[in-house]
Amino acid sequence: MVDFKEPWKIRIAGALNKLLLESGNTGLIETAQIIVEIPPKLEMGDLGFPMFSFAKVLKKGPPCIAQGVAAKLAEEKRNSAEGTFTAEGPYVNVRLNRGKAAAEVLEKLLDEHTPYCRPETLKGSRIMVEFSSPNTNKPLHLGHLRNDVLGESISRILKACGAEVQKVCIINDRGIHICKSMLAYREHGEGKTPESEGIKSDHFVGNWYVKFSQMTQESPKAEEGAQEMLRKWEAGDTETIALWKRMNHWTLEGMKETYRRTGISFDQYYFESETYLKGKNEILKALEQGIFHRAEDGSVWIDLTEEQLDKKVLLRKDGTSLYITQDIGTAIYRQQDWPFDHLVYVVGSEQQYHFKVLFTILDKLGFGWAKNLYHLSYGMVNLRDGKMKSREGTVVDADALLDSLKALAFKEIQRKERENAVGDPEATAEKIALGALHYYLIQVSPVRDMLFNPQESLSFNGNTGPYLQYMGARISSLLRKDSQRNEGDLSTGAFKPELLTSDAEWELLKTLESYPSLVANAAAAMDPSLVAGYLYELSKGFSRFYHDCPILRAENPDLAVSRLCLAQGALRVLREALELICIPFLETM
Ligand code: ARG
Repeated sequence: MVDFKEPWKIRIAGALNKLLLESGNTGLIETAQIIVEIPPKLEMGDLGFPMFSFAKVLKKGPPCIAQGVAAKLAEEKRNSAEGTFTAEGPYVNVRLNRGKAAAEVLEKLLDEHTPYCRPETLKGSRIMVEFSSPNTNKPLHLGHLRNDVLGESISRILKACGAEVQKVCIINDRGIHICKSMLAYREHGEGKTPESEGIKSDHFVGNWYVKFSQMTQESPKAEEGAQEMLRKWEAGDTETIALWKRMNHWTLEGMKETYRRTGISFDQYYFESETYLKGKNEILKALEQGIFHRAEDGSVWIDLTEEQLDKKVLLRKDGTSLYITQDIGTAIYRQQDWPFDHLVYVVGSEQQYHFKVLFTILDKLGFGWAKNLYHLSYGMVNLRDGKMKSREGTVVDADALLDSLKALAFKEIQRKERENAVGDPEATAEKIALGALHYYLIQVSPVRDMLFNPQESLSFNGNTGPYLQYMGARISSLLRKDSQRNEGDLSTGAFKPELLTSDAEWELLKTLESYPSLVANAAAAMDPSLVAGYLYELSKGFSRFYHDCPILRAENPDLAVSRLCLAQGALRVLREALELICIPFLETM
């Protein structure tokens, strides 16, 4: 990793300490106290060091300190190859040596054998990330798509920072909801299967869930039937269990197909049917220790009013557990299963209160790791164009949405007459659809509610996934063109980074340099939207460079070769960043 800032921080701290000594002060200013900013305009320099915070100890105004620091730096009589500096108002502004910086950054970037982005800020930590966590009564919807891409992206970002990451999914495979689909199928299924009907298997199960709501309108008995089925399931009734297994298998296989399609994967699945009883013992143990109390009716409670939360039931009077009880048990079980330092739950913002309570209880139970639990909360996502809403209201089916995005992308390829150029238009359309969807969902900060607009997401211009993919294809094509011309001007050219000093080249280079620390920031803030914003900046930066700095028609072969190297570096970072937020890369578009 190249760090432009650190050497200058050290020098500025050194200069400040000299001033301190001269003023008879014995204190010490540490490098960590030096603040560095990026000046708003390139003309003002590359790095700006504000002097405000030293006014007190030096008993001087910030502009005067800036003058003093600049004078001390000048006394060092260093080679200007490291950059130049000036005092400007309360700031010491530094202009880096562009050629030298370009050489340092590109040397690392063009060495394909060494990973470029290795912030290592999370090296040694084990982080479990739970995401998606669907119920098995119906297929995935648009909300899951947002959850999935957030979970997968944050996992990749944490991994890029050196963490060991375990991606997990808890399948809510038991309870009244699945019994409803089961009942409808048992009554009206006539032995049909997803294969016999030619329906994707999770949709097949979802259709029976819809059928159940029709049944309730026809007869109040339906609800009772589902309850009866749940009791039988809990009693381990052979036939009920067999039907349950069969239908859950259908749902899960169908969902896994969608996960494969969108590039989502898990290291481990947990099943609620296997973990839902786990919380109960923990509650009973803690009851003995006096952490919880039993009410007169036999139910078990915790009073969290001191924590500005409510009183919470943990076991019902009949001894059965609740959602929170299960999550307590599951967290403890996971810690034994895969000892983690941090556990991240990617779950909708409507469950914020639930997770606050959960984390507080686990803390009260005395688990050290409870302090490292994090709810990556995300807002609702609705469709802009209401037409795709399903019978159940705002639920938008994930597979149908992907298909329609793909069809739109395919049409666009046809309209542009790019079928032959792209090779496999079907596969390309699929990748564009995913790029459009994932970018649109990721570019918004997770907590915000949002509207998904399919048309807008697919636009090739502006802040979209396809625009970024197009940028990748454009750079790839540029590099291909070069490698095709074996002879001619370029073969005589040499890589001379010191030639890359125009503003557009320099801005692009600085953007490339900042990539590893950007990824570290995204991990620390648990916010993949920062990577999306970065990609957009990078693409705009490349466009500017491409517009201002001709490559194949450069003034001389050395400059052309050097610019190609810069383009190659930009492509590498673009590819890596796209991968982090689950946007497929395309060689041609
Ligand atoms: N299956 C739940 C739902 O659909 C989400 C589970 C979230 N994860 C958890 N550990 N509580 O609402």
